[in-house]
Amino acid sequence: MTVRVARDGEIAVVTIDNPPVNALSGAVRLELLRTAEALDLDPAVAGVVLTGAGKVFVAGADITEFDRPVEEPALPAVIAVLERATKPWVAALNGVAFGGGLELALGCHARIATPATRLALPETGLGIGPGAGGTQRLPRLIGLAEALPVAAEGRQLGAGEAMRLGLVERVEDGDLVAAAVAQARAMAGQPLPPPAGERPLEPPPEGFWAEAEARIARQAKGNTAPLRALEAVRHGAELGFAEGLANERKTFLELRQTEAAAALRYLFFAERAAPRPAFLRGVEAVPVASAGVVGGGTMGVGIAAALRNGGLPVTLVERDGPSLAQAMAALKAIYDSAVRRGSLSADAAADRLAGIAGSTDVAALADADLVIEAVFEDLAVKQQVFARLGSACRPDAILATNTSYLDPRRIAELLDRKERFLGLHFFSPAQVMRLLEIVPTEATRPDVLAAGFALAARLGKIPVRAGICDGFIGNRILRRYRAEAEALLRGGIAIESIDAAMRGFGFAMGPFEMQDLAGLDISHMMREAARARGEAVPATPGDLLVRAGRKGQKTGAGWYDYAPGDRTPRPSAEVTRLLAPMTGPPATLPPEAIAERMLAAMAAEGKAILAEGIAASASDIDLVEVHGYGFPRWRGGPMFLAGRPVG
Ligand code: CAA
Ligand code: NAI
Repeated sequence: MTVRVARDGEIAVVTIDNPPVNALSGAVRLELLRTAEALDLDPAVAGVVLTGAGKVFVAGADITEFDRPVEEPALPAVIAVLERATKPWVAALNGVAFGGGLELALGCHARIATPATRLALPETGLGIGPGAGGTQRLPRLIGLAEALPVAAEGRQLGAGEAMRLGLVERVEDGDLVAAAVAQARAMAGQPLPPPAGERPLEPPPEGFWAEAEARIARQAKGNTAPLRALEAVRHGAELGFAEGLANERKTFLELRQTEAAAALRYLFFAERAAPRPAFLRGVEAVPVASAGVVGGGTMGVGIAAALRNGGLPVTLVERDGPSLAQAMAALKAIYDSAVRRGSLSADAAADRLAGIAGSTDVAALADADLVIEAVFEDLAVKQQVFARLGSACRPDAILATNTSYLDPRRIAELLDRKERFLGLHFFSPAQVMRLLEIVPTEATRPDVLAAGFALAARLGKIPVRAGICDGFIGNRILRRYRAEAEALLRGGIAIESIDAAMRGFGFAMGPFEMQDLAGLDISHMMREAARARGEAVPATPGDLLVRAGRKGQKTGAGWYDYAPGDRTPRPSAEVTRLLAPMTGPPATLPPEAIAERMLAAMAAEGKAILAEGIAASASDIDLVEVHGYGFPRWRGGPMFLAGRPVG
């Protein structure tokens, strides 16, 4: 039974019990509908309390059903029965009320929450919009200005705020169901409050829709669902509740079938599966309660902040006083900016900062459970650091490297406890980017690997296991992606056309713009080093540019020209001239054809990575692309796209 009914005198208590999150599956909807109809006819029942078993009220529709046609009864029909009931229905929101869960509560006559309850309509994040009255009932309860960010922009409301807005009548600290029963009893036999759909809706101020549309379009990038949700809210606000409800449902059913919705659902499940991979089933992670970082440059500082944000005390070790001072100043700047943006209170920022100790001596890491190395990308330097860590740290401490390209096995060569060593590859800025590539060696113990996954969960990151190869998963695909961009360029396609095509596909930047931002010199230096070792590395267009002093934005010139103080890329006649020996006669390709080639290259590299066992699954590769490399989320990822029917 997914819906249980108990009685407290003349009040029926209906509990949705569908673990793990009480999703509104077809079975739940059917039982709820039958229960509601039966209770309305039962003369012994004067009122009803609706609640959820466990910690969640209802997390929404059952997302696993979205790949199939809607099964009757649909949620709007269930809500309509509650709303038209002759007896009061009181929602006892024992936890999260998301999506269809909130919509169900909106159909009730009153709502009571616990202090931990959160309310939201996260559907747009899944490429759909609310489909069971959320865009119509919510504005009529709390007003358009407050409802729109919830219905179309993924804003969550806490219990206190929901009460302030009149969405919940009460926040109950004690026995929630008992309070709801008392509320239902008080309402029983009284005239019921008008349903949300019959309440008046204040028209919005002049310019409200245009402003909201501009804001939402800016944030939504290529995902069309948020704008469609706005249209749904507007439609009902202008044409009335019944018309709004019908239109909302039509939009929902239409969006449910889009490729973007399929992609976002795929990522929803991939992200939830990532922290618990099959190869770690039954493995208990080595506990980590304190951390150290060696190297306080771009990455070390970001990693220290990420660890600290995950609640760990951190010790950061730099090579000398001035470098340490610089690292600590960079950390302060991170927290100052969080306070300025309003994402952290001044007190919380001070507490985070106070939890990071600085030192120039690795002996300061003697007690750390985990130490992450982020010094220069130089094998000899890293080997030395690990030799020192080997004697300075506790024998049971986990030691990790953040290397981008070096072979972790070589980095750990001088270390005598290789079973406690692994790669933890963060992405820049490490306190923001959600990807963590976890790179075990053959010697890494399973519980140490599991500790990497547990750390990712603690830091709110998405863990992906990567095998050892040049660039692991992400940088290896990036290299192939760039090579394909250069192949197009050599074929005579203009740099700006390639960038525009990838922006059109949904990336924030094209491949050449991205390199100008990051700098062309590092990969050039790596090629030069390989050449110096006698490897046959053919000259690339990037080599020609770096040799001409064009290293990207930092030198005011790269693949594009830049005016002083202006980051706008401008196509460059000098680049055309410099690259002439390597490029064919000017050619054109439609943007879709350019994007198709670039994606095919990524997918081909992904397939090789899978075949070699470097990645455990195709969805892991897509998580790497989406969370580490700016691949547009609503497109799913290169492997997802490669598996979709064309058209
Ligand atoms: N449908 C199906 N399965 C769901 C689900 C849903 N709505 N929500 C969560 N799950 C599954 C997860 O996949 C996971 O499954 P596994 O254990 O097999 O991996 C399990 O429930 C637990 O989920 P989390 O790991 O996310 O657990 P959590 O405790 O960290 O978070 C939560 C709980 C806050 C409810 C979170 O799961 C969540 O945000 N869920 C999705 C909410 C959502 O997007 N709802 C809108 C759905 S669309 C809709 O509602 C439209 C409509 O009615 C018309
Ligand atoms: P960086 O040059 O900004 O910082 C390196 C820091 O290490 C410097 O502050 C230096 O003073 C310090 N250092 C050098 N030797 C040291 C020693 N023996 N003891 C203590 N500190 C020492 O370099 P960045 O960019 O932070 O990179 C660090 C590592 O992270 C490299 O292995 C790099 O490949 C990797 N990485 C870099 C990414 C990036 O986007 N920059 C992304 C992911 C990984």
